[in-house]
Amino acid sequence: MRNLLIATVFSLLTIGFFTGYSNYGIPQIEPSPPPTEEKLDLGAMTMDQFVALGERVYNGKGTCTLCHTAVGGRAPMLDKAAPVAAKRIADAGYKGKAKDAAEYLRESMLEPSAYVVAGFGKAGTNDTVSPMPNVSGGGIGMSEAEIAAVIAYLQDSSGVEVTVEIPQDVPEEAAEESAEQREPVASPEDAISEFGCGACHKVGDEEGEVGPDLTKIGATRDKAYLRRSILDPNADIGEGFEPDSMPPDYGTQMYASELEMLVDYLAGLK
Ligand code: HEC
Ligand code: HEC
Repeated sequence: MRNLLIATVFSLLTIGFFTGYSNYGIPQIEPSPPPTEEKLDLGAMTMDQFVALGERVYNGKGTCTLCHTAVGGRAPMLDKAAPVAAKRIADAGYKGKAKDAAEYLRESMLEPSAYVVAGFGKAGTNDTVSPMPNVSGGGIGMSEAEIAAVIAYLQDSSGVEVTVEIPQDVPEEAAEESAEQREPVASPEDAISEFGCGACHKVGDEEGEVGPDLTKIGATRDKAYLRRSILDPNADIGEGFEPDSMPPDYGTQMYASELEMLVDYLAGLK
């Protein structure tokens, strides 16, 4: 009887282990469902919760802290972002469309080159082109609501009144539909621009400086390594780079065919 019990417990544990292993241990190479937006019950949110959402996006999905940190000096600090924004639009050199600080913050995220903070432009562009990616683009993919939440967070954390409203009419269905209908991109160059790799990497015509230069990556890295670098960026961290620097969710954004096309392309760069 006792032996039977032990055998039963043992087989249950074994089954449990393999179920767990196949669910979590094997990397998901089939990035099947295209991007879905985090479901947000905005209607039920208080402003404090909205600001907290903005803080989470700022520190996580938004990848903002990758560049906007005290170390490295890659981008201006944003702890006084809202008062600074008011000064920017008063600047004679300001050519953007924002009328108030909140609009400036929004424009900074969606059209970073509308105003480039002196000394922070892309190398060789004389501060006319910003190295910051459009945060609604493929690599980061922030939604309208997430952008508004980050503005609320930046206002709150720089000690001014929050002026953005919590969006109530988020066309969730529309967003999901368009995501489902996205056609796979046709070439590796298109994939690089769709997923914003060039914001951080030097590859093709792109000149990103945040991540490793990929122009000869195929000479030192094989396909398995490259695939893992894209699906699970923290698995190997190149020398001189920090973990959590590359968006962690490309596996859910890309179609399998896009991933393989990119891996083949990168492996051929020698
Ligand atoms: C790849 C690096 C990078 C990432 C990622 C990034 N930024 Fe930036 N950002 C910059 C640089 C460089 C500048 C300065 C050049 C310019 O004005 O565009 C800047 C400028 C800004 C400005 C204008 C600051 C000022 O003083 O006028 C704001 C606001 C801003 N970023 C917000 C964000 C937010 C919010 C995120 C995340 C959702 C983000 N950035 C992600 C690099 C980055
Ligand atoms: C927000 C910045 C950012 C974006 C966007 C980004 N990367 Fe990265 N990537 C990094 C950083 C930083 C590293 C080095 C740290 C690490 O390995 O995670 C890296 C590492 C890599 C490596 C490993 C290089 C090596 O020698 O170990 C590959 C390959 C790579 N990225 C490919 C891509 C591709 C392809 C895309 C677009 C689909 C992309 N990255 C988008 C920042 C980024």
